[in-house]
Amino acid sequence: MNIFIAIFSSFLFFLSFSYLASSSSENCLQEDVCFKGEPNIKFPFGITKSQPQSCTYPGFELSCDITNQTILNFPYSGDFTIQGIDYAEQQIWINDPNNCLPQRILTLNLTGSPFHGVTNESFTFFNCSLDYLKYKLNPIACLSGSTYTVFATTSTKVIDYLSSSSTCNRTGTFVVPVDVPLYDEVMSSDLTDHLRLTWDMPGCGRCAARGGQCGFKTNSSHQVVCSNLPQRGIPRSARYAITVGVGVPAISCILGLLCCVCSKVKSFTRGRRTLPEFNTIVAPQPTIVMGLDRPRLEAYPKIILGESRRLPKPDDNTCPICLSEYRPKETLKTIPKCQHCFHADCIDEWLQMNATCPICRNSPP
Ligand SMILES: *[C@@H]1O[C@H](CO)[C@@H](O)[C@H](O)[C@H]1NC(C)=O
Ligand SMILES: *[C@@H]1O[C@H](CO)[C@@H](O)[C@H](O)[C@H]1NC(C)=O
Ligand SMILES: *[C@@H]1O[C@H](CO)[C@@H](O)[C@H](O)[C@H]1NC(C)=O
Ligand SMILES: *[C@@H]1O[C@H](CO)[C@@H](O)[C@H](O)[C@H]1NC(C)=O
Ligand SMILES: *[C@@H]1O[C@H](CO)[C@@H](O)[C@H](O)[C@H]1NC(C)=O
Ligand SMILES: *[C@@H]1O[C@H](CO)[C@@H](O)[C@H](O)[C@H]1NC(C)=O
Repeated sequence: MNIFIAIFSSFLFFLSFSYLASSSSENCLQEDVCFKGEPNIKFPFGITKSQPQSCTYPGFELSCDITNQTILNFPYSGDFTIQGIDYAEQQIWINDPNNCLPQRILTLNLTGSPFHGVTNESFTFFNCSLDYLKYKLNPIACLSGSTYTVFATTSTKVIDYLSSSSTCNRTGTFVVPVDVPLYDEVMSSDLTDHLRLTWDMPGCGRCAARGGQCGFKTNSSHQVVCSNLPQRGIPRSARYAITVGVGVPAISCILGLLCCVCSKVKSFTRGRRTLPEFNTIVAPQPTIVMGLDRPRLEAYPKIILGESRRLPKPDDNTCPICLSEYRPKETLKTIPKCQHCFHADCIDEWLQMNATCPICRNSPP
């Protein structure tokens, strides 16, 4: 009976502490939205109206327009609506708030924003007065008038045909960051599909994919960290809570029991930080291997991190791949040529796909 009470009270303790530990981190909203049905807004994005500037990565500031659509402003191209955000893949889908995307494509210039196209296709625009073409090609309705029709094409045949026609003027060729790559020439497109863009920095994709929460480490630096990674088993904050709970004299009578629970939890969670899903996908791949093989991976110098968590010179205490802070007793690996450090399982995963250092792009020997 006593044991049940003890377990129950320790459980209550770590519940209350883990709650405190996870909510005291920042006064930034972790999730926001312009309106029901609009994309969920998380770091690196932020809605400027409801979030201090220091919570949002520069260039990722969003606003909500009068119809409650989510708006991203490009310095040289103005406002676009955000249709969707894939945090794991670091991609966004945008469109024109006034429903004439082709018009925006004519002046699209992503300079000064962190975003760029994933799949670029070059479309050539024509402005034609010939009416019958409307029935052969798919015109861009919002750019056409009663006496002229505008077309966009990637087909060299159509380009040749319209260029030689005295009734068409070639407007120009424009790069369109299309959503899906074209596997074939397109006779004509009305270009109403969303545009797909991606960003490189901050690299929060891996954190998002693992269910973590990306954010600034402090509000005075632009260093980004991944926190609140869900742990199978007991969360990190809970482990902290248990440790704190042990220190409270009032419950010293259950200290022995708690220690036992505590060490079980520790040994359970320590062995857990591997990425088995990935390893099983990579291992049997018979296709072109661009990364390193197992024996060469094994040959890399390993470090077991001490309590001081001191690392060789160019490194700080965050793994650049998963953006999690190193914890004492974790196994790290260095790339000998450049001395960059990573979690052993993170860099193994990387090097199996890509035989370069993720930071300096040096090829490891
Ligand atoms: C926008 O949101 C506000 C409240 O969030 C609501 O009152 C208003 O009706 C919405 N407008 C539209 C056009 O949906
Ligand atoms: C985009 O705009 C900037 C600033 O006006 C200019 O320097 C740059 O050449 C433009 N890029 C394109 C592709 O038009
Ligand atoms: C698409 O074009 C933009 C400039 O227009 C460029 O910055 C970007 O890297 C291109 N993307 C690809 C995948 O080529
Ligand atoms: C097409 O030509 C008409 C005049 O012939 C002009 O008013 C219109 O702006 C042009 N449109 C484009 C997209 O070039
Ligand atoms: C094409 O350009 C010529 C001369 O610039 C102009 O007279 C003609 O109206 C234009 N045609 C269209 C369809 O815009
Ligand atoms: C973070 O920034 C806010 C204002 O932007 C400031 O009030 C607060 O003191 C800052 N906190 C830290 C830890 O620098």
